[in-house]
Amino acid sequence: SKQFALFGHPVTHTLSPRIHRAFARDLGIDMEYRAVDTAPDDFKAALDRFAEAGGVGGNVTLPLKEAAFGLCADLSPAARRAQSVNTLIRTDHGWHGENTDGAGLVRDLTDRHRLDLRGRRTLLLGAGGAARGVAPALLEAGIDKMVVVNRSAERADRLVDLLDAPGRVASRYWEDLEALGDFELVINATSATRHGGALKLPFGLASPRFVVVDLNYGEAAAPFLSWGRAAKAEAAIDGLGMLVEQAAEAFQRWHGRRPDTDDLYASLRAEHA
Ligand code: ATR
Repeated sequence: SKQFALFGHPVTHTLSPRIHRAFARDLGIDMEYRAVDTAPDDFKAALDRFAEAGGVGGNVTLPLKEAAFGLCADLSPAARRAQSVNTLIRTDHGWHGENTDGAGLVRDLTDRHRLDLRGRRTLLLGAGGAARGVAPALLEAGIDKMVVVNRSAERADRLVDLLDAPGRVASRYWEDLEALGDFELVINATSATRHGGALKLPFGLASPRFVVVDLNYGEAAAPFLSWGRAAKAEAAIDGLGMLVEQAAEAFQRWHGRRPDTDDLYASLRAEHA
């Protein structure tokens, strides 16, 4: 059967193998999908070994998405815009790199959560790999202006340059959050709460039509989403649906068929309330 793998460090708690196996089972596709714990220094060698052993497709998670971008022979437009790769497809001339995170997020927000993104004034917190992965897709989905705020201002500026949408995207200092006015969509793309940290955010960021989204799920999403609920958000959405949808996008690219995600999402949701 065809060989697929997830590369990351660590990969112990990842849901990706379970998600892809469930999709394959539902569609009667014969494949194997395993998780490979790969230290950054060993990533290139691990990918070579995987290809030699017949590997045809892969996913890439933290902290290897940028390294994957550098190792691909060619890139999809989304991967090039994000400068990071979460999906690999083996070709005759090497690995083709894609990034399905942004498409996965937009599909989760618009299809599952029935959120109309168009015209929403958006605040993006963070300018690392996760933020880069989703920002282009949000702009394409028709959000209004996007303000990028990051702890290190230079990184926010770099993301704004990369997005290349002057007039629509701007960076501001973290210290100025109090003075930014209000937003209709606030997205936490920082890793602050993944390391047990907190995010101190003013309630003044909340407009009457205010939705919060955390790209993390589980405990890592809890502090930011509780802040959003306390600020009277209409919806507080974690990254579990995005995880399932970015996987479905990758699955479709590998297997040519689109899995139905509703049942799997429901059972994962029951475990990650
Ligand atoms: P990821 O791939 O998850 O985006 P990353 O590229 O290391 O990981 O980016 C982490 C993001 O979380 C960055 O935006 C980082 O801010 P800096 O660029 O200033 O480092 C942000 N971040 C991490 N810890 C944070 C904290 N305690 N407060 C605010 N932002 C934090």
